[in-house]
Amino acid sequence: MKIVFTKDYQELSLLAAQLVAQHIKEKPTLTLGLATGSTPIGMYQELVKLFKNQEIDFQHITTFNLDEYVGLVPDHKQSYNFFMQKKFFEHVNINKKNIFIPDGLTQKPTEYCAQYEQEIKNRDGIDIQILGIGRDGHIGFNEPGSPINSSTRVVNLDQLTIQDNARFFDGNINAVPKQAITMGIASILAARECVLLASGTAKAKIIERTFTGTISENIPASFLQMHPQCTIIVDQAAASLLKSIQSSQ
Ligand code: F6R
Repeated sequence: MKIVFTKDYQELSLLAAQLVAQHIKEKPTLTLGLATGSTPIGMYQELVKLFKNQEIDFQHITTFNLDEYVGLVPDHKQSYNFFMQKKFFEHVNINKKNIFIPDGLTQKPTEYCAQYEQEIKNRDGIDIQILGIGRDGHIGFNEPGSPINSSTRVVNLDQLTIQDNARFFDGNINAVPKQAITMGIASILAARECVLLASGTAKAKIIERTFTGTISENIPASFLQMHPQCTIIVDQAAASLLKSIQSSQ
């Protein structure tokens, strides 16, 4: 596991975008796992800039998003589908048929989730998986208690996650869906490379617990310690409790 310390969110976003861009240059048919939430927004902005400067071509890549709320139509303003279109896909030359985002409206979740896993396999797996982290240690929507062998499935969201995400729903906790479809821990760990981004003081405690504590279902992100090719990009605020590691690097 490699930890990259950045001075601020801007530098974190730039580094993450450069890392993705480098991978696409090396493999134009890259399969990229994507996250939503506030953390990767800066990375998407930087990727769009690189595209506009003709430094990167998304034409042949495939993307798989980690998760989607159950019950939101794709053009609901808080759906992760809408987020991805507005923050990234609409601004670059990605081929629509190569975009995969879980369908939160599926009527046959078991079959649908198995099919999502199959689509990933059909593209020879995910090359690089971008991740954020929840304050309870979730990755994707794998909340505490998610087993290491979990695959794409419907999950119940934790109260803390619902509370944290209410900010996207005008602060209205009741408007936040209670369930989501998420890729599992096993689906994430199967990616050839994982890159976790964390920014801000609100993430400092969980970053410290995740990467200096024991590996446990109670902190699903801690499973990343087992991944052979995992990079954590943290800004100063999120890394503020990782002092001992920082000083030894
Ligand atoms: C969303 C996702 C979640 C978020 C996490 C942090 O696709 O995978 O695990 O990364 O909830 O969200 P922010 O970045 O808003 O703090």
